[in-house]
Amino acid sequence: MKRDSFGSRFGALVAMAGSAVGLGNLWRFPYLVGENGGAAFIIIYVILCFFICLPIFMSEFIVGRRSQKNAYSAFRDLSGGSAWRWVGLFTIIVPLIVLSYYSVIGGWSIDYLLKSLTFSFTGGESQSAINTMFTDFVTSTGGPLLAHTAFLLVTTLIVIIGIKDGIEKFSKVMMPLLFFIVIGIAIYSMTLPGAKAGLDYLFNPDFSKINGKTIAAALGQAFFSLSLGFGTIMTYASYVDKKENTLFQSVATASSDLVFALVAGTAIMPAVFAFGISPQSGPGLVFETLPYVFGQMPAGGFIAILFFVALLVAAITSSISMLEVAVAYLVEEKKFSRIGAGALLFAICWVVGAVCTLSFGPLSHIKIDGGNIFDFFDNLSSNVLMTLGSLLTVLFVGWRLKKTDVYDEFTNGGTLSTNAKIFGVLWFLIRYICPLAILIIFISGLF
Ligand code: ALA
Repeated sequence: MKRDSFGSRFGALVAMAGSAVGLGNLWRFPYLVGENGGAAFIIIYVILCFFICLPIFMSEFIVGRRSQKNAYSAFRDLSGGSAWRWVGLFTIIVPLIVLSYYSVIGGWSIDYLLKSLTFSFTGGESQSAINTMFTDFVTSTGGPLLAHTAFLLVTTLIVIIGIKDGIEKFSKVMMPLLFFIVIGIAIYSMTLPGAKAGLDYLFNPDFSKINGKTIAAALGQAFFSLSLGFGTIMTYASYVDKKENTLFQSVATASSDLVFALVAGTAIMPAVFAFGISPQSGPGLVFETLPYVFGQMPAGGFIAILFFVALLVAAITSSISMLEVAVAYLVEEKKFSRIGAGALLFAICWVVGAVCTLSFGPLSHIKIDGGNIFDFFDNLSSNVLMTLGSLLTVLFVGWRLKKTDVYDEFTNGGTLSTNAKIFGVLWFLIRYICPLAILIIFISGLF
């Protein structure tokens, strides 16, 4: 049977961008900027995105598109059947871990969308009432579990439908919608009186806040946001037509991811400052601070609906890419049907995600390294597993694949002249700079 693939350049682009743009941009990036001193963090983040993460992105793209296989078979076949295939298996397991806890926040987004649709944030509520609403919800059992189930179910259904008819169609409709909503909120937010303080915070750097941990956090966020080190880009690239340009697709995805993160910051920070709230409220920023802010602003009830629609859409376009990694593996290697693979993976992620969900409530007494089980999975994935996956991928491309094959794939058989010109730089970055930088930043983040 012919392998499913993306039907158009635009479809491939929005699916890739959809994988990258997610909770990482709308939920994680703004609170990390808030916690790590604003603009200085953003500058470090942008540098890391383009000099370290873009070459990693291209490495994943090259592995996926060259092999036109799932991540496991890609590593196995391109390395002539060697032990590198276990790296492939690793990049299939990691997105399942990420999806499991991602689905918890995806579920919260569903709940908050329903809350905003029923006008729960219309200004009458105090900040402490909103905080209590959040705490009551996340520490309960039934609601968050139901929300997690719904999120995972929607994700699974879209993936089961397939690449062209499921993932691509969904992304084609939802990504433009997401873009317009987030831009619209950013423009509105910047017109609020007092918004300038938020913009200053975002765009005036304070380098005294930068240390090894901040840089490591920025790199971890860049991996998370660009979906690197866990098979998603590799798998999506395996569905991209051989005629497409790796450089163009990679730069377009990385740029749109960055623009989304900055626009999300511009949508959130000015509004937060306009109402005199501290931007350093951590993961609760989106669910505790913003609902209060929405309640205070004119037409805030409507803005709240738009914001939570955006959050949910961004989450789903990313979660489908995570699930697809393992679905592709089960279908191609283990001869599952897409429905069978989806059902099995749904069950696994549901159980792990349920444990993460309950780690805010009934299981909150279980602490790992000072945090709950959810925090443990989040830190482990973005700071360790994605880092390791990215490191192994660049080592694979830079040191295991033949230079001529990488050149051939990157330049479409030598036909793309710009790609041919910059190949030397890319090769140097992949072989030396990326592995060294990842190692140094990872180690410095430990102290
Ligand atoms: N790249 C996805 C995100 O940013 C995982 O949410």
